[in-house]
Amino acid sequence: MADVTKVNDLISIERSGDIALICIDNPPVNATGQVVRQGLLDAVEQLKADDTAKVIAIYAAGRTFVAGADIREFGKPSQPPSLPDVYNIIEDCQTPIIAIMHGTALGGGLELGLATHARIGIEGLRVGLPEVNLGLLPGAGGTQRVPRLAGIPMALDMSLSGRMVSAKEALDKGLLDRLVAGEPRDVALVAAQDVLDGKLTTRHTCDLDTPRDDKALDDTAAMLKVKQAHLFAPHKIVEAVRASYLPRTEGLKIERQGFLDCMQTPQRSGLIHAFFGERAVSNIPEAKGDTRPLAKIGVIGGGTMGSGIATSCLMAGLSVRLIEVAQDGLDRGVATITKNLEGAVSRGKMSAAKKDAALANLSPSLGLDDLADVDLVIEAVFENMDVKKDIFGKLNTICKPGAILASNTSYLDVNEIAACTDRPQDVLGLHFFSPAHVMRLLEIVQGAKTAPDVLATGFALAKTLKKVGVLAQVCDGFIGNRILSHYAKTAAYLVLDGASPQHVDNALEGFGFAMGPHKVSDLAGMDIGWANRKRLAATRDPAERYGGDVADRICEQGWYGRKTGQGYYIYGQGAPVPNPEVATIIDGVRADKGITPQDFTDQDIVDRYMTAMIAEATRVVEDGTAKRPLDVDMVFVFGYGFPRHRGGPLHYADTIGAAELVRRIKEYAKEDAHYWQVPALLEKMAAEGTKFADLNK
Ligand code: CAA
Repeated sequence: MADVTKVNDLISIERSGDIALICIDNPPVNATGQVVRQGLLDAVEQLKADDTAKVIAIYAAGRTFVAGADIREFGKPSQPPSLPDVYNIIEDCQTPIIAIMHGTALGGGLELGLATHARIGIEGLRVGLPEVNLGLLPGAGGTQRVPRLAGIPMALDMSLSGRMVSAKEALDKGLLDRLVAGEPRDVALVAAQDVLDGKLTTRHTCDLDTPRDDKALDDTAAMLKVKQAHLFAPHKIVEAVRASYLPRTEGLKIERQGFLDCMQTPQRSGLIHAFFGERAVSNIPEAKGDTRPLAKIGVIGGGTMGSGIATSCLMAGLSVRLIEVAQDGLDRGVATITKNLEGAVSRGKMSAAKKDAALANLSPSLGLDDLADVDLVIEAVFENMDVKKDIFGKLNTICKPGAILASNTSYLDVNEIAACTDRPQDVLGLHFFSPAHVMRLLEIVQGAKTAPDVLATGFALAKTLKKVGVLAQVCDGFIGNRILSHYAKTAAYLVLDGASPQHVDNALEGFGFAMGPHKVSDLAGMDIGWANRKRLAATRDPAERYGGDVADRICEQGWYGRKTGQGYYIYGQGAPVPNPEVATIIDGVRADKGITPQDFTDQDIVDRYMTAMIAEATRVVEDGTAKRPLDVDMVFVFGYGFPRHRGGPLHYADTIGAAELVRRIKEYAKEDAHYWQVPALLEKMAAEGTKFADLNK
């Protein structure tokens, strides 16, 4: 029987002759929470004092080595011992210690390995320093030990990109000493014996000097000043990596201070909200339970959306039947899919062989009749209720019993579509975002009669496609587009009332949006918004201030944005420039409406835009269109280019506070009481002093 003693609930020591194995067993990902830190410390102290232990091997149970510090502890008072202290004690131990790493060794997990005296990777291992994705820097020696083992460029690359590095690359770069196949415990016993036999060399990482590379540090620091000026952690990372020239104690002190500074920032809080939010959206009863088969997918429509959806399914290994009405449309669809897949190969997202296999899974077809044997149909034709109703009526007779019938509509009533079938329980909305093979958001729209297993299959599809599936209820625009329709008006009002489109874009890009709203509308095609305004014209509330005049007049010129060479901006060689004709149009509209332009600061623009977004987002939570505030946040982070480090509109709202938001809305309402109305939920939160975060629990 193995000689195993428990150090605490999560750490055990096994003895086999001169060899001591320390096992970390903290499912699901062996994060180094307080109990793990304490157990590791106690185990090492115990074995250090034991002359019969000549070598120590650390490995982990379960599906992965250590995936880092326990993120759930961040933002709370830290409990000793600290990770850097434990790792220094490991590094300083005179008994050789080796790490056996499998699955993923990330952040504090890789840093544990780096503090030991030799690292063995098990085939399939991936390592990384993803702390930057959480607004942090590697805070347990990563910035000091990676440069010593693999050089400054590799340390900068890993800690600034947060990317996963393959075991092969880690071996080539000197982060691993060996790469083998096998079970962690077996590998640990063999490697430990090799240390005893002198076949595996051990050394203390911090005895090495970091090879100098001032140019890499200076160039990176300069690049970050331009490209990531608004982020906090990346700059601290460069400082900490630079400190790896210093002796260990001094370097670690700078790294620690940087880590603590990062920990205090709202960026850290926003990014960690996004980390957990991404997982929490599908951690709901509706996403669980029985699912239906998902092997064969039918996609109706070979336009940009349909081709993107088909590409996404093919990339995930599903087989796709693409349906178009005419041969030229079908050929265009196949060409787009092929181009998308080739793009994925060139971006390193898939191998050429996988692309060929994906294309072999595509069967183009004319006419809906070929959808008789598919498990799921996704209709992605243009936004016209009559066309969609016609298609669903036909699918009702063509598709096999139990097949799921989904519409990719972005606004329309899924219940009305479902009513054209005699199986509304099989119908739901699956709203993808363009480009559908790239954007991670999938709104899963529950119709009044959608069956539970159909909804759960929607979530299963999101998982298969590596997308973030968010549950939404039926309304015009669901979660995202409904909120967008509301706050987009603010951008239009700001322009009517005195700002230029470029000023609005610059202010919001300064806030962190990848693109301002006018650049987005040029990119998407201004004709789309124009068509939507015309669609809604008949039902528009006469009391509502109309903000579309400027955009309408631009569209009347035939200027739809990028695709026509001009819109709010002019597109040619180099960066787009503001369209001077637009300034003339704006002056004309203001004159016609008798508007005297006001001066807006960048802050005014951000405040109005964000307050409008938050107000509608609050209503979406209030009326149950979104289940929780975090669902709205994830829709915006993964589908609308919302700055991830701000966590989403309602996480950001908590940083302002409900009382201040109510004050702002009342202030703006003096200009337009119809548009600026305080949502009842916000008023209540202001009175009670509560936060949106409280509603996520
Ligand atoms: N701390 C706490 N919980 C964690 C965690 C962590 N570091 N990593 C993952 N989890 C949780 C997830 O929230 C999830 O919980 P639920 O099941 O309750 O939703 C569960 O573990 C499983 O995670 P995934 O669903 O993500 O599982 P996966 O197999 O798809 O991915 C993974 C596994 C690649 C390890 C992924 O979870 C991941 O990337 N984790 C974060 C890694 C990371 O950022 N590490 C750095 C931490 S910061 C640090 O280490 C600072 C430092 O320098 C000291």
